[in-house]
Amino acid sequence: MGGLIAQIIMKVVVSLGGSIVASPSINRNFILSYVDMVLRLKKEDISISTVVGGGKIARDYIEAARSFGASEEFCDEIGILATRMNASLILSALGEWAEKRIPVDVEKVEDDNVVMGGTLPGHTTDAVSAMLASKIKADLLINASNVDGIYDKDPREFPEAIMLLRVGSKELLGIIKGEHMAGITTILDIKAAKIIIRNRIRTFVLNGRDLENMERAIKGKSFNGTEVVL
Ligand code: UTP
Repeated sequence: MGGLIAQIIMKVVVSLGGSIVASPSINRNFILSYVDMVLRLKKEDISISTVVGGGKIARDYIEAARSFGASEEFCDEIGILATRMNASLILSALGEWAEKRIPVDVEKVEDDNVVMGGTLPGHTTDAVSAMLASKIKADLLINASNVDGIYDKDPREFPEAIMLLRVGSKELLGIIKGEHMAGITTILDIKAAKIIIRNRIRTFVLNGRDLENMERAIKGKSFNGTEVVL
């Protein structure tokens, strides 16, 4: 009896903070290790899309442009350029620069394994990754930045802040600051949180520097970080 055996592919979107990829300067070793993980997981039918953040280069350029009087929208546009510069590095390391281009609009994405940066002013790449996860019907969204997870308050301001292993939707919306400003750093932007909650996207927040931990999270094993409970 012939017949097709459906191949089960797990789809993951990783929001990869620019703070890990290129802050203070390009982190070649990290990029190579990340790409190595992506290519290895591909062979195990786990397809990873990456949305790359702007990191220091985005913030430096935004600050300078703002000091010259540029509008917030224009500063956002500058931030988007920085995210695409960083995304270009991941695409280069994946060896996919010849056949792929960086999508600029989530709605036009048809692939399960894209590399992209920002899209439009008014949000960060966290929101883009949530939109992408919703568009490609991803099984999991991983927010990977340089902090270990979601804290009950900003750990940079409050040393007594506690990292939460699980966070519910109401609590999440309470923790996140609502207003967008170019270059602002919050663990997840408000738009991302709303998309995650509305579309019930399985989401983990963890430190992207620890790739072994990220791989454990992707494979459903116990990991260090925060799970958004929907
Ligand atoms: P990031 O997504 O990098 O912001 O976008 P971030 O939260 O600082 O993330 P890290 O530091 O990389 O982890 C950088 C800036 O680019 C603009 C915003 O101004 C944002 O703060 N941006 C980015 C947009 O306006 N739209 C986008 O879709 C993406």
